[in-house]
Amino acid sequence: MPTTAELDTSVPLPAPLAELHLHLEGTLEPAAIFELAGRNGIVLPYAGVDDLAERYRFTGLQSFLDLYFANMSTLVTQADFEDMTRRYLLRAHAAGVRHAEVFVDPQAHTARGIATGTVLHGVHAAMRRAAAELHMTGGIIVCALRDQPPADAMDMLDTSLATGVPLLGLGLSSAEAGHPPADFREVFAAAGEAGLRRVAHAGEEGPPEYIWQALDLLGAERIDHGVRCLEDPALVARLAAERIPLTVCPLSNVCLRVVDRLADHPLRRMLDAGLAVCVNSDDPAYFGGYLDDNLRACADTLRLDRAALDLLAANSIAASFASEARKRDLLDQLAAHAPADLRGAR
Ligand code: ADE
Ligand code: ZN
Repeated sequence: MPTTAELDTSVPLPAPLAELHLHLEGTLEPAAIFELAGRNGIVLPYAGVDDLAERYRFTGLQSFLDLYFANMSTLVTQADFEDMTRRYLLRAHAAGVRHAEVFVDPQAHTARGIATGTVLHGVHAAMRRAAAELHMTGGIIVCALRDQPPADAMDMLDTSLATGVPLLGLGLSSAEAGHPPADFREVFAAAGEAGLRRVAHAGEEGPPEYIWQALDLLGAERIDHGVRCLEDPALVARLAAERIPLTVCPLSNVCLRVVDRLADHPLRRMLDAGLAVCVNSDDPAYFGGYLDDNLRACADTLRLDRAALDLLAANSIAASFASEARKRDLLDQLAAHAPADLRGAR
């Protein structure tokens, strides 16, 4: 994979952007993991930052998840969750992100004795500060871990709602293969009744059938990843006709071997099929880049021109759960930022 330094940065990136598929715990850079471990008196099983960074080579989703969950042990206090979120939001803002809907995995923390309130109040404090200081909007999406029992997901939802922290939605993440969305019907129904928006990872490593289930059984309004929809023409037709957004994460797909090389990524084919695709960074600390890095890498390797990049940016805003007024404002800013020859193209 090309490093940021090797990339052709000549294509100006569009702005503003919305980021809709971002796991906060996946923003922990090796240096931050050591810093958190130091302040919490945790001894890490790595020789140092470089040794940890060397381990960021994955054979698939599970090999990544093993390290991702292990490194979360360094998050202990509310301030840790606030600092992690603050660091991400500052980096995302520098990438042009003005609206961020962020995932967090409360079950991964309660399993280690960290209260859900500690997690969510910390994340919320950072988001409030970014709203006040940087005018960023967004929300928190709590994810159910699909490789854990559905009853645990229901407990997580109840506990998260009981914290009083405003929640935007419920998501479904973690190991996909062998863990169909159908198992999580009840918790998604409960989330809908509580007024939450619903999204689900599907079609990353799992089959197209999981995307159908996410739509029809969970009421998912967006599909996270979804790249395997291309194996099922009827599914592509439905996703395109209903403008169901797919939050695609190209650098993640390379790192987790969903595709062999970025040059093989189906992003362009997905756009050509009329799918409502946007680009996201998933777990940027682990996969070699934030949203701007993903867009630059795609522009360079997939030869996306400015019109395609602008479409991806517009799709990200349209696919967000921002208010209609906020979406209009962001789309107006995007149009004003576009080169003159593309204005009015949308
Ligand atoms: N949790 C964090 N990153 C994930 C991914 N790419 N897929 C599923 N669950 C995740
Ligand atoms: Zn993800």
